[in-house]
Amino acid sequence: MTSGRLRARAYAKVNLDLRVGPRSDDGYHRLSTVLQSVALHDTVTLRAGDGPCRVRCSATGVPSDRGNLVWTAAAALWRAVGRRGDPQGAVVTITKRIPAEAGLGGGTADAVAALPGLCRIWDVSLAPQGLREVAAEVGSDGPFFLVGGTALGLGRGDAVYPLAELSPHWVLIVVPPRGVPTARAYGWLDRDRGRRGRRGRPARHVPPYAGPTLDLAALTNDLEGPVTRRRRELREATRTLRGAGAVVAAMTGSGSAVFGLFTSRARAADAARGAKRPGWRVIVTRTMSREGLARRFWA
Ligand code: C5P
Repeated sequence: MTSGRLRARAYAKVNLDLRVGPRSDDGYHRLSTVLQSVALHDTVTLRAGDGPCRVRCSATGVPSDRGNLVWTAAAALWRAVGRRGDPQGAVVTITKRIPAEAGLGGGTADAVAALPGLCRIWDVSLAPQGLREVAAEVGSDGPFFLVGGTALGLGRGDAVYPLAELSPHWVLIVVPPRGVPTARAYGWLDRDRGRRGRRGRPARHVPPYAGPTLDLAALTNDLEGPVTRRRRELREATRTLRGAGAVVAAMTGSGSAVFGLFTSRARAADAARGAKRPGWRVIVTRTMSREGLARRFWA
């Protein structure tokens, strides 16, 4: 067991590209997605403590203890190292900055960022494959948060392959007051495809690359249509970002946040001023490379 506090940064992600295939027997859709880490992050602080694991977060709407994905991760790790019952002996505190139900992966990022600290506190270790399995139990994006940078996610999004890094960009994230639960966005997609008699095209297993670099003009998100049909204000937000000079403007994941990539901080800041609406959050951040992420623990 370790004494003192351990701290890790949990970086958010955006989906640069998301192609959704049909729903499989396991209830999950097969996908092909290109994920990108961004500098926006939560902070996860861990310390040893007596009794059952505790997970605390003061942000409104974020569950504590077993309702939080950090607890799910702790329970999965506890089982994976051969222990029984509920996880014990750790207190985890989350300082939240990443908006929830926004398609930014915040809850999963926190959970995966807590894993190395839990290993230290419990004095256990897991082989990389075991760690990937624990991360995948937290959520489909879990294994991505072990890798970071620019990466391809296949299967249900959990089979992750690092890609050549996207060149550095400024990222403007625009978050409407209402979130979208992931399962609901996929449900809308199925319903819309059913109406049109389409089962969904098989997810493309080749990311949209032009030579060694991502083809930014070819990026798409299959969930964007189904979500923006029900949340018209998101379509308006992407249009605003495009009009303000974003090289790419799209919804991230299952929404409800939309993002724009910009080549300069000044342009992103200008676009942020134009995108602000009452009750909406606008966040200017940067893309994060895998090299930058290597310093994420014990920051
Ligand atoms: O695993 P995760 O927490 O990301 O998934 C949340 C929900 O999103 C799932 O319960 C499922 O309804 C939907 N989902 C899906 N196909 C995926 C990923 C998620 O249908 N590949």
